[in-house]
Amino acid sequence: MRVLVVGGGGREHALIWKLAGSGGVEKIFCAPGNAGIALMAECVPIGTGEISSLLNFAREKKIDLTIVGPEAPLVEGIVDLFREAKMLILGPDKNGARLEGSKAWAKAFMQKYHLPSASFKVFDDPQTAGNYLEQAKYPIVVKADGLAAGKGVVIAENYPVALEAVQGMMVKKAFGQAGTRVVVEEYLQGEEVSLFALTDGQTYFMLPSAQDHKAIYEGDRGPNTGGMGAYSPAGILTPELREAASKQIFAPVLAGLQQEGIDYRGVIYAGCMLTPEGLKVLEFNVRFGDPEAQVILPRLTSPLLPLLFHAANGTLNNLEPPQWSAQAAVCVVMASGGYPGEYELGKVIYGLEEARSAKAMVFHAGTARRDNLFVTSGGRVLGVTAWDDNLQEAIRQAYRLVERINFAGAYYRRDIGYRALSR
Ligand code: AMP
Ligand code: GLY
Repeated sequence: MRVLVVGGGGREHALIWKLAGSGGVEKIFCAPGNAGIALMAECVPIGTGEISSLLNFAREKKIDLTIVGPEAPLVEGIVDLFREAKMLILGPDKNGARLEGSKAWAKAFMQKYHLPSASFKVFDDPQTAGNYLEQAKYPIVVKADGLAAGKGVVIAENYPVALEAVQGMMVKKAFGQAGTRVVVEEYLQGEEVSLFALTDGQTYFMLPSAQDHKAIYEGDRGPNTGGMGAYSPAGILTPELREAASKQIFAPVLAGLQQEGIDYRGVIYAGCMLTPEGLKVLEFNVRFGDPEAQVILPRLTSPLLPLLFHAANGTLNNLEPPQWSAQAAVCVVMASGGYPGEYELGKVIYGLEEARSAKAMVFHAGTARRDNLFVTSGGRVLGVTAWDDNLQEAIRQAYRLVERINFAGAYYRRDIGYRALSR
């Protein structure tokens, strides 16, 4: 089978690494890919936003299955375009992608289908939002409706902060069109856990859980990033909670999508808060998490290709449930100094050859090739991932490899997974 993977980060590297080790794969292309991906797939210089060019490429190269990594092309309608052209693709269509692309739509959906989640209000004008915030209970959460690369959420401790967030989004347009509408919601307290299911629109399989570390600094402080590290499984998710998530979250989501006439084929990622009243959904994403994919995929012991193929093809019920190892996996993200703010590119990465182990994989995120060297080309540069019989050993192993790698300004958190260990 000829496969095209759309994207160029650690998540796509992890997908391709697993696909490459899966029988039945004849050739893998990746658009645009990165320097690490280029070692195992043919990278093509087409951006993830160039959806017509991606379709032309897939047709020309007779691609049997296209797998979409990031959310933006899904929200843009890449799946609708491929489906019209009768090209097999994994991911939700434009309507389904609203679960991530519009927080207001997602909240209304959650309410309609009785999913456990925070109470909320939607505002289209800053004046009305301001009036509401004046007499609201604090802390409160202000969210830009549209895609804002994980930065459109403000936890406001008090009215001035909430008002400033609303003004920034709605008036100053800090996130462009994404902030013309805002969602204001109840603040939920608890520990976060990421839950995933893969569906073909009819059947779904839950994937292992994970926890990510969104904040830039140790102790989960500082501004949010795309994710500075992750581990799987999430220790707080007991088998009972997992069962509850299946019954109270994934089953009703799928039924709701069907009711809305949405043929959703792909990953449903539920970012949840474990509150004293049980799991509540904070947000949905319509794709694998990054870096969560980097700790989930190494634990897959059955082949990846049939799983993704049958999900895209609507034939998941033909397949045995995927098998997962009982091991723990940890990913430590090495980032460019300054990320998630401004940072410099083009720093030579040393030590990749030394950072090898049978129970680890260094996934590339923002890397490029200059002459014979690997250089940095993004905010998140590498996802150093290790797995072992227990979390402690996996963490130790991941940091052992991180210490062998070096580039000017490299930054990483030293506490990935530690909260789980202290439990
Ligand atoms: P989201 O993009 O909606 O997941 O929000 C980003 C982050 O903001 C989440 O990972 C949580 O840490 C936090 N967050 C979002 N919604 C809430 C909420 N209702 N209560 C508390 N924290 C929240
Ligand atoms: N790591 C969070 C995300 O992929 O959205």
